[in-house]
Amino acid sequence: MKIAVYPGSFDPITNGHLDILNRACSLFDKVIVLVANNPNKSSNFSTLERVEMIKEAVIGNEKIEVTSDSGLTVEFAKKHKATHLIRGLRAVSDFEYEFQLASANEYIDPKIDTVFLMARGDKTFISSSSIITMAKQGIDVSKLVPDSVLKRLVK
Ligand code: COA
Repeated sequence: MKIAVYPGSFDPITNGHLDILNRACSLFDKVIVLVANNPNKSSNFSTLERVEMIKEAVIGNEKIEVTSDSGLTVEFAKKHKATHLIRGLRAVSDFEYEFQLASANEYIDPKIDTVFLMARGDKTFISSSSIITMAKQGIDVSKLVPDSVLKRLVK
């Protein structure tokens, strides 16, 4: 069984992330979405809320598991017998950061490889923080996030 981990802060998950996740499902038998913490960011939603929003958005997809962890992503992957990490790339500007992250993960354990999927054209501009900014200003973001996120943003 080929298992991958899709880590991120998912604060909140967007349709851009879901597109990457669905495409990863066609490459692996199981994909574990890992809500992790980026120590350089403060979060908009609690870890529990972020996990719940993802679980609601992927309900019915048997290949996907959703969980959170506060340790190293690579250690989590090893513990769950995953061979690959999934990351999305939206633009050249993502590359440097992703290359650095993939290299750090490779240093921790070179057996866990990172697979990059390119964001689709209409999703390259989406980011979690831009969703929050738009929603706060009353802009309709219903085309950019799943319903599970939309209802919490409205609240
Ligand atoms: N669609 C929409 N948004 C996307 C996207 C896509 N396809 N791809 C990236 N993004 C956006 C996110 O919305 C997020 O936007 P924001 O900055 O406005 O919030 C941004 O790109 C990056 O977020 P994310 O993909 O969630 O990554 P991250 O950099 O916040 O988190 C972790 C990285 C959590 C995976 C990483 O820090 C980690 O693994 N932490 C655990 C500790 C560890 O193992 N560290 C590595 C070794 S030192």
